[in-house]
Order: sequence, then structure tokens, then C-alpha cells
Amino acid sequence: MLHIENLHAYYGLSHVLQGVSLDVKEGEAVSLLGRNGAGKTTTLLALMGYLKPKPGVIEYQGRDISRLSPWRVSRLGVGFVPQERGIFSSLTVLENLTVAARRGRKGLWKLADVYKLFPRLEERRDNRGNQLSGGEQQMLAIGRALLLNPSLLVLDEPSEGLAPLIVEEIIKTLRDVRDNGLSILVVEQNTRVAFDVADRHYVLSKGTVCYQGSTADIRANDEMVRQYLGV
Ligand SMILES: Nc1ncnc2c1ncn2[C@@H]1O[C@H](COP(=O)(O)OP(=O)(O)O)[C@@H](O)[C@H]1O
Ligand SMILES: [Mg+2]
Repeated sequence: MLHIENLHAYYGLSHVLQGVSLDVKEGEAVSLLGRNGAGKTTTLLALMGYLKPKPGVIEYQGRDISRLSPWRVSRLGVGFVPQERGIFSSLTVLENLTVAARRGRKGLWKLADVYKLFPRLEERRDNRGNQLSGGEQQMLAIGRALLLNPSLLVLDEPSEGLAPLIVEEIIKTLRDVRDNGLSILVVEQNTRVAFDVADRHYVLSKGTVCYQGSTADIRANDEMVRQYLGV
């Protein structure tokens, strides 16, 4: 459903992505791993239309999306949970969610479903974005993306900075939505999250994919893990 091939991207003169290729099939959960600065976020920003590829192929459901605006990409069904979460700090939880629901595609996900997935958000529905803990903000960012009724959910380091118990909750949620048929592309530095959520993994280093394989492949390759993931 997602096909990225030979993707290059620049910040000014700095050639950050140097030929990234990856695929996500329908119903599949895939991770993109790599150290800080490897180009993971940049890959997602190009996919979502925030950065123009120079050059590169980005196809979603067989359609070239490489020149579309972020708004058009999300309307086609790609839900994005950015690294900085993008919560409106002066809006309440409920307002953050309803803004998304209004803009979203018609589909299965309704407010009540998000509250069922994250009961904490319902308890906190009248609190403003800036009153939430990091974990609550991450739940809100995921809930908001689901209300757009995506076919592909794209997440940038969902576990970053969260307490272990909250990380477990995020993992469980992502497994649940995956088991309900949503495709997932998740960027992580935490291999635990990647291995629990995704079946196939790409490892990025210096703006290019240096390794790809199943969870078992990666677990069996200590040297690669030391070299490119630093654990
Ligand atoms: N806005 C920017 N301007 C210039 N360079 C950037 C910018 N954002 C990221 N970079 C650089 O691009 C490279 C890839 O960054 P990024 O995609 O954020 O990596 P990752 O998400 O894997 O940690 C890094 O060397 C980073 O310093
Ligand atoms: Mg990043």
C-alpha cells in the first residue's frame, strides 16, 4: 500500500536522505529503526508532504503522492502522529479530538471508540493540552490520528520520554489497531516497541536503509544491532 523508492531529501544544501526505499503492505506493521540523526523523521516528513523529495518515488495505494500537501496526504488516509505530538495546548482534549473528527474521512472511528481505547482521555476531556502528562499527550495524538480514519497509521517515536507502564499501554494499543487491520509504519529507537508492534523492520543509517529483516533476523544479528542501533 505504501511504496517508497530511492527517496532523497535536503535541508538547504545538506543532503539528508540519500536513497531510502521501503514498502508497507496492506495490513502490515513495519518499523523504521536507527540512531538519532539517521533520517527517520525526515523520511516521515517527506512521506507526509512536509518536505519535497528530490528525487524519489512515494506511492500510496498505487498513486503518486510525492507532490501532495500534508492535508491531501492525510485526506487519502495516512494518519500521522508526529514526534513532537502536535497537540493544541490551549484546546481541551475534547476539542483537540473533535477538530480532527470534523476534518476526517468517514469511517469506523468515532469519539466513543477513542475513549474506549484510552479511558484516560475521557476522564481528562475538559483539561487543556498543556495540562496533560507526556503519556496523555501521546494517547491524544494517537486518538486524534485514528479519528481521521486512516488506512495507514504513521508514528514517529511514540514511546519517546514515556514511563515504562505507559509504553506498555501504547504497545498494546498499537497491537490492537494492527490486529483490526490497520497498516502501521512506526519509527522507533526503542527496539522493544518495534519488535512488539511490527513484524518487519528497516534500519536507517546516514540517510539510507542499511539493513532490513524480520524481528528474528535482527535479533540474530548482534553485530548489526551494535553498529547501527547502539544497544
Ligand atoms: N530542520 C533541519 N534543518 C537542517 N538539518 C536538519 C533539520 N532537521 C534535521 N536535520 C538533520 O538531518 C539529519 C536527519 O535528522 P532526522 O530525520 O530528524 O533524524 P532522526 O529522526 O533519525 O533522529 C540529522 O543530521 C539532523 O541534524
Ligand atoms: Mg526523529
